[in-house]
Amino acid sequence: RTQPLVLGIESSCDETGVGIVRGTELLTNTVSSSMEEHVRFGGVIPEIASRAHLDAFVPTLQEALAEANVQLADIDAIAVTSGPGLAGALMVGVCAAKALAVATGKPLYAINHLVAHVGVGLLQQGTGTATSVSTPPAGSPPETLPDNMGALLVSGGHTEILRIRSITDDVELLGSTIDDAAGEAYDKVARLLGLGYPGGPAIDKLARTGNAKAIRFPRGLTQSKYMGTAEEPGPHRYDWSFSGLKTAVARCVEQFEARGETVPVADIAAAFQEAVVDVITSKAVLACRENGITEVLLGGGVAANSRLRQLTEQRCSAAGIRLTVPPLSLCTDNGAMVAALGAQLVMAGVEPSGIGFAPDSSMP
Ligand code: KG4
Repeated sequence: RTQPLVLGIESSCDETGVGIVRGTELLTNTVSSSMEEHVRFGGVIPEIASRAHLDAFVPTLQEALAEANVQLADIDAIAVTSGPGLAGALMVGVCAAKALAVATGKPLYAINHLVAHVGVGLLQQGTGTATSVSTPPAGSPPETLPDNMGALLVSGGHTEILRIRSITDDVELLGSTIDDAAGEAYDKVARLLGLGYPGGPAIDKLARTGNAKAIRFPRGLTQSKYMGTAEEPGPHRYDWSFSGLKTAVARCVEQFEARGETVPVADIAAAFQEAVVDVITSKAVLACRENGITEVLLGGGVAANSRLRQLTEQRCSAAGIRLTVPPLSLCTDNGAMVAALGAQLVMAGVEPSGIGFAPDSSMP
């Protein structure tokens, strides 16, 4: 059967993304980011992000159509992130998608951003002019996802382990952060250490020169009252918490300062990173093992982290779990992942959403 040509729109945070796929084939992934406008504030300012989406949307759409060499009239369906994310930012993408759907008469699909992060696992790099995609995925992605697949999503807004039985209608949240997302913890700790924003890449780099064993920071929610056992799971067996870790880093810095000593910034960065990555990977692998998951996809902006990649690979391999890490341009927020999930919905015969839906910033 013919593969649907789907346009995907992403605007949940600071990336304006327009992607085009044909079934599981990636034609283009065009992204414009307002990151630089947020740097001086040390974090994403929702109002600025929303305005930037409005400025960037039409040029990004035009670039995507040109790169994929398709006309709007050729598109079979439109897919848009409708949540979770920043309300105002989501609204820009959703309004744009509705306008396009009305103007072209094409069906519109409202997409869950987190499930879309998993959809990229299905994408083949196109033979077209998809210049924005840097590295091709390792190995050939499958035509369909395995029946019981895991996804570990780690970004500035999310830290989650999902079980996917069917990407179109059976996605279960196994565990998540109960406070800060891991990327958010990186950003906050980087600010504390005077490393600027975004903090993740800065800490990743500095940590390479530090001693991760110099200080031991707490691993949140790993005590037995939270973990329980496999037979009798505790309330947070697969969940994470990073706010206590951030406080521990702050106390640590204060102690060095109070003693009039130089703050060992590289050691603190390395030890902080080790605490984050250790607890993320150990709990994710535990969740996979206890739920019969033998294939897992790593996604989200923190998937760029060298230590997270390394330890996830090591621990998955030790547990006999196959790990897929999409190219970074598909791990961070983008429109291609939204288009990929949209195409799966079209191919599964799922009814379009219509144009009556509202964005849902706290979509489960
Ligand atoms: O998925 P993403 O681009 O979008 C948001 O969730 O906003 O992720 C951005 C997050 C930021 O918190 C950033 O500090 C973090 O990913 N990040 C990293 C690295 N590169 C980006 N964290 C740790 N190590 C990195 N190399």
